[in-house]
Amino acid sequence: MKVTVGVSGGVAAYKAAELVRALQQQALDVHVAMTQAAQQFVRPLTFAALTGHRVITGLWDSDGATPNAASSIEHIAEAQSCDALLIAPATADILAKMAHGIADDFLTTMYLATAAPVIVAPAMNVQMWEHPATQTNIATLQARGVRLVPPESGYLACGMTGSGRLAESDPIVRAVLEALHRRHDLAQETVLVTAGGTREPIDPVRYIGNRSSGKMGYALAEAARQRGARVLLISAPTQLQPPAGCEMIPVMTADEMRAAVLHHLSQATLVIKAAAVADFRPRIQADQKIKRSGPLTLELEPTQDILAEVVQRRNPGTLVIGFAAETNQPLKHGRGKLERKGADAIVLNDVSREGIGFESDRNAVTFLTPSTAIDLPEMSKRALADRILDEALMLRHPRNVLSEVAANAATSHTPAHRH
Ligand code: PMT
Repeated sequence: MKVTVGVSGGVAAYKAAELVRALQQQALDVHVAMTQAAQQFVRPLTFAALTGHRVITGLWDSDGATPNAASSIEHIAEAQSCDALLIAPATADILAKMAHGIADDFLTTMYLATAAPVIVAPAMNVQMWEHPATQTNIATLQARGVRLVPPESGYLACGMTGSGRLAESDPIVRAVLEALHRRHDLAQETVLVTAGGTREPIDPVRYIGNRSSGKMGYALAEAARQRGARVLLISAPTQLQPPAGCEMIPVMTADEMRAAVLHHLSQATLVIKAAAVADFRPRIQADQKIKRSGPLTLELEPTQDILAEVVQRRNPGTLVIGFAAETNQPLKHGRGKLERKGADAIVLNDVSREGIGFESDRNAVTFLTPSTAIDLPEMSKRALADRILDEALMLRHPRNVLSEVAANAATSHTPAHRH
């Protein structure tokens, strides 16, 4: 498999040589692209000698006027032919460009053009790393599926001590292997994901809703798609762009969601119900806007439990994973839901915790099965989506070697606690 290592311009650029070697020891075909600034720190010849391949140093020939010798669309060819793009070291500058879609050199242009998994290993001064601009850019990239190997703490080239030193080769190589293993592991699956919060009309202008933004469900849909699955995304209203390549089925109410889920259920091999579905709806919906005239009593009736129905009506072999949003005694209530609804697993969200759950870009959950409880610690929803899919695959293939390798690699960054 081919990995392109993008080297951007920081002192740690020299460490990329060791990284290239470590990747080659995993039998990977390593190619290198360097930014202009990186070439101030290390000569391209070093990487050419290590890899046996021409090092890509820019979009243009040395005359600065014509596209470089190999091809005028070399960045597209490289973007399409690589199985993973690793940017190490990644400077604050290249992270900012990636987060904002600026494509003004080979590497940033290739990043926009590739569908391969992208891994970044930042290295910079501690204050640059901790600056809100850099942290916001990192969060943006993670939300889009870029994998982060965080910098380590220690003595930095700038003379300061703190976080910002390029991670060791081992965790970076593991992250690349993990991304490669996950790349096609859902190719045989049709994944049906529900997302967002349903709306139950009171009258033509008002509804009963909830705080779900759809971010968790969309992250799951995107992750499954990027791992090769066909994805049916049944979504209540959200402010989000549908992930590329997913088949979108928009719905509004719990009833509409139920109809859409049951209609597509026979095609699904894996169902993930991340949507926050109304448990009650107004018994009567007013035809006209209700006028303000004293107190108003709404009579509510229960909606149907889609998850429980899906469990009953699924094809043999179809895995069903529900979510549970809890505010007190989460484990007890989560286990209760798992048993009552009969799902294969429940992803338990303690939505009383600040900074995770509803609306946030981050989440922390417990993956509950009848016999296990696996804590997946706080991380971006996009990274968590991959971990949830890893656990789902484990249910299907408990001895699937690739999944285990991927899970072990993932564990080295953000350990899962199994109990
Ligand atoms: O969308 P975000 O802002 O990213 O937030 C993510 C989230 C917190 C919404 C999500 O991670 C989550 O927890 N979703 C489930 C919320 C929920 O409705 O939980 P519940 O405990 O009420 O429902 C349990 C399960 O039954 C869920 O899978 C739900 O989809 C399903 N259900 C509920 C009611 C119903 N009538 N039919 C259902 O199928």
